[in-house]
Amino acid sequence: MQFNSLVISNVELSPGYWRMRMTAPPPITGSKPGQFLMIKVNGGSDPLLRRPFGIFDTGAMVTEFTDCGSQSYLEILYKVVGKGTAMLAALHNGDRLDILGPLGRGFTPGDPAGEKILVGGGIGLAPLYFLARELVTGSRVRLFAGGRSREDILCITEFERLGVESYVATDDGTLGDRGFVTQVLERHLATAHNATLFACGPMPMLKATAEVARRHNVPCQVSLEAYMACGMGACLGCVVKGKDHGDNHPDYRCVCKDGPVFDHCELLWEKGEGGHS
Ligand code: FES
Repeated sequence: MQFNSLVISNVELSPGYWRMRMTAPPPITGSKPGQFLMIKVNGGSDPLLRRPFGIFDTGAMVTEFTDCGSQSYLEILYKVVGKGTAMLAALHNGDRLDILGPLGRGFTPGDPAGEKILVGGGIGLAPLYFLARELVTGSRVRLFAGGRSREDILCITEFERLGVESYVATDDGTLGDRGFVTQVLERHLATAHNATLFACGPMPMLKATAEVARRHNVPCQVSLEAYMACGMGACLGCVVKGKDHGDNHPDYRCVCKDGPVFDHCELLWEKGEGGHS
């Protein structure tokens, strides 16, 4: 669906990382964790294209933002990386946005038995929080959050409020263990039973998580971040390689339409993306 939205709040959580809450029509609460939105950051033609953002949270509204006929809200996390996101960071309470979504294929929570393990960092934590909200109703959930430094570790308190046990690692040791979060994850998996992994974050982190999943033979779903122009499978600007036909004959999938969530076994992971943040 396409809808107009009003900004309710727009707050910088950590240097460069922002959390925005906006109005949305009630069907938004039926979004699946892992689905995303294409947002037009202003009413003009620069930037022309919408930008993709993962859904962090949705819910029923308690304030009286009745403009746009909205009784619900949605939230996103975003990082200021260019002109479009800088424009988003300049918006205030009451400013308008044009939103398309929810789009794409989300996470599949699966059998509630067994431990659910979330792995992510930076704005990758947004869809994982939305997923955690759903998973905690029937499963034990752990979060492994990683990044270059403490600034990349967002909203841990919100996860813990849900009852999620969290483990943190940063490359520079400014928060949690020093090193890659996948190393902490791997130590945990040595004793975990019936675990399922759900990951969202930078590509090197996803690749390392998929490799850990393969070594420990645990199911793993990954949510990919990609450059997206249309968000609906029309422009082919977001393709990744799949391996339905084996490692030497990749097929191509759209992150926006076939994903952004994939089983890690579906994808052909490029070699040479070694260390990660
Ligand atoms: Fe256009 Fe995916 S963004 S095909």
